[in-house]
Amino acid sequence: MQQDASPLESLRREYRPRVPAALTAPVSELGFADTHPAASPADAATVAARFPRTAGRPVATLVRSGAEKPLVPRPVRAGVVLSGGPAPGGHNVIAGLLDALQDIHAHSTLVGFLGGPAGILRGRKIALDERVVAPFRNTGGFDLLGSGRDKIETDEQLKASAATCRELALDAVVVVGGDDSNTNAAVLAEHFLEHDVPTAVVGVPKTIDGDLKNRDIEASFGFDTATKVYAELIGNIGRDAPSSRKYWHFVKLMGRSASHVTLECALATRPNVALIAEEVLASGATLASIVDGIADAVAARAESGRPYGVVLVPEGLIEFVPEIRALIDDLNALLANRAGDPDARALVAEALPASSRAVFERLPEGFRGQLLLDRDAHGNVQVSKIETERLLIDLVAAELGRRRARGTFAGAFHAQHHFLGYEGRCAAPSNFDADYTYALGRLAALLALAGRTGYVATLRGLAGPAESWTAAGVPIASMFHVESRKGRPTPVIRKALVDLHGRPFLEFAANRARWAIEDAYRCPGPIQYFGPPEVADSRTVTLLLERGE
Ligand code: FBP
Repeated sequence: MQQDASPLESLRREYRPRVPAALTAPVSELGFADTHPAASPADAATVAARFPRTAGRPVATLVRSGAEKPLVPRPVRAGVVLSGGPAPGGHNVIAGLLDALQDIHAHSTLVGFLGGPAGILRGRKIALDERVVAPFRNTGGFDLLGSGRDKIETDEQLKASAATCRELALDAVVVVGGDDSNTNAAVLAEHFLEHDVPTAVVGVPKTIDGDLKNRDIEASFGFDTATKVYAELIGNIGRDAPSSRKYWHFVKLMGRSASHVTLECALATRPNVALIAEEVLASGATLASIVDGIADAVAARAESGRPYGVVLVPEGLIEFVPEIRALIDDLNALLANRAGDPDARALVAEALPASSRAVFERLPEGFRGQLLLDRDAHGNVQVSKIETERLLIDLVAAELGRRRARGTFAGAFHAQHHFLGYEGRCAAPSNFDADYTYALGRLAALLALAGRTGYVATLRGLAGPAESWTAAGVPIASMFHVESRKGRPTPVIRKALVDLHGRPFLEFAANRARWAIEDAYRCPGPIQYFGPPEVADSRTVTLLLERGE
């Protein structure tokens, strides 16, 4: 549902995203050249056996002239689905797709599946034309189509998807999603090839979590905007802290698993403490040692006359603390075996192995209840519902209480908690995300016209101006590794965790001791849509450091 546009939204509708030069050339001059081998997936033999038709293919780079096989314009019928959590820019993928389809041929058509992948299964769709899409250009949200986290994996579901695509005579389905959704796109592509369904499946890399990146994908869309929204708010909190001089702010940040969002926000705002879940896992830190570290920072700042501070907590942290990870695994196993049993939650604590039971019983009661909440469709704990920031506040207060009793802490500790997640997922896309997503949509249309099924649209050189980005399709299967899913070895896209040897983390690690003690807070301010490029077209610190800028 589109509400009355605000003045800014009205102005933004007029924004013309910038795209790589190649994407604007007449379609008949374009083509894809098989330029180089794709990365070899980990566990290549398992991947090849499961994806015999779509694994092992090369990277297809978009070229302007001299293409081995120039694209031949013809009417294309395409469908698009938005999958998983919303991310800023989804509507621009659709706008780019629509514009490119129209450029390919005026009689091309686009349908949007409603409510995520379930829309394909049930054939729920709307026709997308300029009249429908225009109000959504450069807006945040996924509300044009809605989204969902359903998977298409069983034989029945694959057959239902094939039936929908045949019935609509689709040349292509574009799947806009994260690692799981793009994995699903590859499964669909393989199934369609096996059963002669003439619909190409093309992926577009989305997620604010920033964990869908690798050799070929420099960044997932939405990360830029969402982290800028969070960094603005953390920057404001970082101004409030030394103004009020009485609160420690514990800010939990989205990112289901990886801590990229927290790391980016730390680099942009310089908080006193930022926990990086991957480091916690690598160091084998216990909950007690994490709490000790925060309590040390509180004590040191209290001694220097600063009874306030800012702590960033990634929402995935809890699953990376080894003893809690083990507890969650034990809980998952117990809850899975008792599916449908209304007493399961009450009984589960009794049934835990001794080591996990001891950990469970040491946790505050409210937090224990949160660990028992329903799992998501993939069997994961819903970390956005677990109040890790409040747990840490309670535990730090208790630790400081013990120190006070021992006479080693005499300061004050008053805390406020925040959770920044939903606040940023549907923000109006930054110029970067508006450009990036629009260009990805255009590229997806060309990949579909070229019949590149099982490929994901990629743009490279993102730290530089949009006009110079290079465009390619990369086989999704090349991004796989094998994980155990539902007890079976399953090829899935490897989730990118924070690289503890990478430049973003090293930059953070080199500065954090100073940020802990000083008031080094930085206020990035709100996203700017107009103005000098250094503010209106800025990139995330993560992207700049990773790309060597
Ligand atoms: P995607 O990976 O699907 O983009 O979603 C990411 C995310 O925003 C996480 O950061 C968060 O943990 C999760 O979605 C919340 O999911 P829900 O929308 O189901 O509450």
